[in-house]
Amino acid sequence: MNPYSFASDVKPLYTEHQIQQRVRDLGQSIAEDYAGLAPALIGVMKGSLFFFADLARAIDLPLTVDLLEVSSYAGGTETTGEVRITSDVSRPLAGQHVLVVEDIVDTGLTMNFLLDNLRARQPASLKLCSLLVKPSRARVPVQIDYRGFTVEDLFLVGYGLDYAERYRNLPFIGVMKNP
Ligand code: PRP
Repeated sequence: MNPYSFASDVKPLYTEHQIQQRVRDLGQSIAEDYAGLAPALIGVMKGSLFFFADLARAIDLPLTVDLLEVSSYAGGTETTGEVRITSDVSRPLAGQHVLVVEDIVDTGLTMNFLLDNLRARQPASLKLCSLLVKPSRARVPVQIDYRGFTVEDLFLVGYGLDYAERYRNLPFIGVMKNP
């Protein structure tokens, strides 16, 4: 049931409760794997905004947070294939245990580009946590170290994911009926 009247054309796929449960599990796995370390969480804006905030609070470690913004969809529903960093992190990543936090890996073009870019900054380690992965759309291989849900090729919105910049503020993830 979707109580948001502005989003009546969105059919819920993962409820707020299901997402929060999965985020807690991911946070525990990450805390175990990075025990004794203070990883640098890098949120990829804008899609990972809410996932990033929830995941960071689910990890019982003295981590640091930073943000960057990439864009390749330019407001449309198909990737332009041209990935740009439109806003970068504020601090150097050399020697840091970097964990990139993303909302969705679709074609993989964004993460392929971004992970190469971050690797060149010589972090001590570099891993990726993506809430959603859409394997049927993969165009380039991307190693995903932590994943929330594997999804089919549906147009998803909510919990950070947008359609023309809207619907990000839904607390659940749903399918657009007529994108
Ligand atoms: C979306 C999403 C990922 C990327 C995934 O970003 O947040 O970063 O697309 O697609 P890919 O695997 O095909 O590259 P978008 O460019 O729409 O920006 P946003 O995060 O601001 O929504």
